[in-house]
Amino acid sequence: LMILLLWAVLGYLIGSIPFGVVVARVMGLGNLRDIGSGNIGATNVLRTGSKPAAAATLILDAAKGAVVLLLARKISGEDAAQIAALAAMFGHCFPVWLKFQGGKGVATFLGILLAFAWPVGICACIAWLIGAAITRVSSMGGIVSAASSSVLVILLGYGMGYFLCILLTIIVIWRHRENIARIRAGTEPKIGQKG
Ligand code: G3P
Repeated sequence: LMILLLWAVLGYLIGSIPFGVVVARVMGLGNLRDIGSGNIGATNVLRTGSKPAAAATLILDAAKGAVVLLLARKISGEDAAQIAALAAMFGHCFPVWLKFQGGKGVATFLGILLAFAWPVGICACIAWLIGAAITRVSSMGGIVSAASSSVLVILLGYGMGYFLCILLTIIVIWRHRENIARIRAGTEPKIGQKG
């Protein structure tokens, strides 16, 4: 139990690194909180106009989820891996450094799924692309991806992966509740629009 607790803390700390904020600051793009939706994710970094910065944020936010899971799995096994990944997701969405006002978890969720079970991760990425391509709305990609990945994990049967995946899906959709309200009101900006 001590080991699981340690992984939860470590996962949270790594997950809570807000790469979008860091990348935007380092690249001189300003304070992300004052841009677009104010969110710390790659979608909002793209609203600064910098594709490289958005790509770097996407990759780093995904990588932190993947690295935490793989590290915990290698050192302490599958239970630790899932706890650590979940903690990383919490860290990203509720980072202590930003007064618990963090991101929406899509990139970190995709990174975790790719590391957890890569076929599921690839499907989640494809679902994001399909959702976003049809609607041109990033949050729709995230919501479609999160929802469909849980369905997939249940259909394929991934042991305890159900819990991990369903909890991640709930977090992603919960964090998008403002986006969902904007989608329903027809005011959600298209990808790259300032919003
Ligand atoms: O990954 C977050 C994305 O789905 C929505 O971001 O900035 O449009 O609220 P944003």
